[in-house]
Amino acid sequence: MIDAFPLIRPLLLRLPPETAHGLTVRALAAGLGPTAPASDDPVLQVAPWGRQIANPIGLAAGFDKDARVVDAMLRLGFGFVEAGGVTPQPQAGNPRPRVFRLPAQGAMINRLGLNSAGLAAVAARLARRAEAPRRAPGLVGINIGRNKDAADPIADYCAGVQALAGVADFLVINVSSPNTPGLRDLQGRAALAGLLAAVLAARGKAQPGADRPTPLLVKIAPDLAPGDREDIAEVALAAGIDGLVVANTTTARPPGLPPHLAAEAGGLSGRPLMAPSTALLADMARLTGGRLPLVGVGGVASGADAYAKIRAGATLVQLYTALVYGGPRLVREIKRDLAARLRADGFDSVAQAVGTGLA
Ligand SMILES: Cc1cc2nc3c(=O)[nH]c(=O)nc-3n(C[C@H](O)[C@H](O)[C@H](O)COP(=O)(O)O)c2cc1C
Repeated sequence: MIDAFPLIRPLLLRLPPETAHGLTVRALAAGLGPTAPASDDPVLQVAPWGRQIANPIGLAAGFDKDARVVDAMLRLGFGFVEAGGVTPQPQAGNPRPRVFRLPAQGAMINRLGLNSAGLAAVAARLARRAEAPRRAPGLVGINIGRNKDAADPIADYCAGVQALAGVADFLVINVSSPNTPGLRDLQGRAALAGLLAAVLAARGKAQPGADRPTPLLVKIAPDLAPGDREDIAEVALAAGIDGLVVANTTTARPPGLPPHLAAEAGGLSGRPLMAPSTALLADMARLTGGRLPLVGVGGVASGADAYAKIRAGATLVQLYTALVYGGPRLVREIKRDLAARLRADGFDSVAQAVGTGLA
């Protein structure tokens, strides 16, 4: 199918962001998305957690909150998709408007507040997908959040793990969304240790005796002080989780943003996040000494950006915001350019390049 994005881009970017997003997801769900034409360069193959996929470029959480279009996104050329964030109970999120575009900066600010159809709906959708005859290849993970009014936030995460371990290919514990009061507090040393022990136990209960339990990752915020970074690395290694996603949106407002938009509450994503999130990624790679797979996300808009994340320690790379401005062809361009960069530097695989840019 042809890529209609260049034609409809001006219209989409004139609509309010959530309206444009809703239309896009509906079109994708109706089968109107483009399909990646060629197979990927073999140099892009990666095998996170022992599962081989065609390329390391993934869709970040928040695009497909309710796992409605995971196959459409895989067909677009992503090697893996992280759907969600999903909360145990359905919740509406914050009042609109709550998403803002900053096109000149290649950025967005959102304060969606984890709007979600809830665990039951998402788990049912994934279970139906498991039975479907025409699944697209690639991994599908789910980003797990907590309800705004959760009496026991840790119990919310455990509910997510229990409902989804086994139906998703990986799970991401989201302790870094800036738009749910208190959610980021679980990144502190003692709180995080307690949370990880609980979610790993929940996984054990959901998959007793499993040879290969569903990989469990934690997604962290870019706004962490050096001490927090060390604590997270130590706690993550000690607990035995399967990876870190680095990083979520930032509450910081770097200079150069239009003041009326910089004043909006919420998480900033896109180009301004590339440098700080890659610096955090490199820090986490050093602190974990390559013992933990890292997913690099934040501001990726080109093959050069994806390569920078890999050289800073990422095994996998994700993006969201650049897709809003660049459309689906960006995925193809990033993959083509990344493959060329790997080969130009003499690497035979992505794995060989991971962390090679660390001092
Ligand atoms: C509209 C929007 C919604 C998001 N929702 C979630 C979410 O539910 N859970 C999560 O962990 N991250 C969420 N994110 C963060 C992204 O997954 C990603 O970490 C961040 O946007 C940085 O990547 P980017 O610069 O490529 O967009 C969201 C981002 C945006 C822009």
